[in-house]
Amino acid sequence: MTDARYKVNFLVFEGSLRKDSLNARLASLASRVIESNGGNVDRANLIDFDCPSYDGDVEAGEGIPAGAQTFRQRLIAADAFVLSSPEYNASMPGVVKNLIDWTSRFVPQPFKGKQALLMSASPSMAGGNRGLWAVRVPLEHLGTRVYPDMFSLAQAHQAFDANGRIANAKLQEWFEANIKCFMDLVEAAKHFPQIKTQWVEFLGEHPDRLTERVETQDVAA
Ligand SMILES: Cc1cc2nc3c(=O)[nH]c(=O)nc-3n(C[C@H](O)[C@H](O)[C@H](O)COP(=O)(O)O)c2cc1C
Repeated sequence: MTDARYKVNFLVFEGSLRKDSLNARLASLASRVIESNGGNVDRANLIDFDCPSYDGDVEAGEGIPAGAQTFRQRLIAADAFVLSSPEYNASMPGVVKNLIDWTSRFVPQPFKGKQALLMSASPSMAGGNRGLWAVRVPLEHLGTRVYPDMFSLAQAHQAFDANGRIANAKLQEWFEANIKCFMDLVEAAKHFPQIKTQWVEFLGEHPDRLTERVETQDVAA
């Protein structure tokens, strides 16, 4: 039995192309928790959004590739997204940054105003948490509201039980609580907006119609 919720749509995906990705397992578990708490889930895989390396000449000649087009459509359809991303060399995987870079080229810029929850899974003791601080930077730059609490599953290669849940009951409880708090925030932001929003790519830059990117949105009536 869950509390009644206003309709909220979540895009959930992993930041790994690997078939047996630990982050895909964590993303699938997050999807189950969201659904069992009354949220709608679009469970996507990074492979659906795969793009060639960003190249300004390709963009000018051929436009934005299909992977980023698909990601944009699914992002627009969602109120919030959940990304479970591996940590590579204390940062985010190149494929994740590449997807963010391509997608940031659309006008209007689709990350603006989205809510995001970040999580990671790694065999390491820190669970890939440093990588999430790197993911946070471009997302916040693009106007995504990144939830303060990030979940990182340490020793993830041995953390799941046979049903795909986190074997440690306390950790599973914290994982669910983190997601439920995030869901409450997304629901409130969507249905009870209290702030007007404006995204300016570089606040403080001298206004220049050739380069400026400014997008303003009033609070919905
Ligand atoms: C290039 C590379 C760099 C990595 N760097 C880190 C790292 O800095 N910290 C960490 O916890 N794990 C690191 N790992 C290990 C990954 O966390 C591990 O491969 C993990 O399973 C990847 O996520 P996935 O299972 O979702 O594909 C690295 C792996 C690769 C391939």
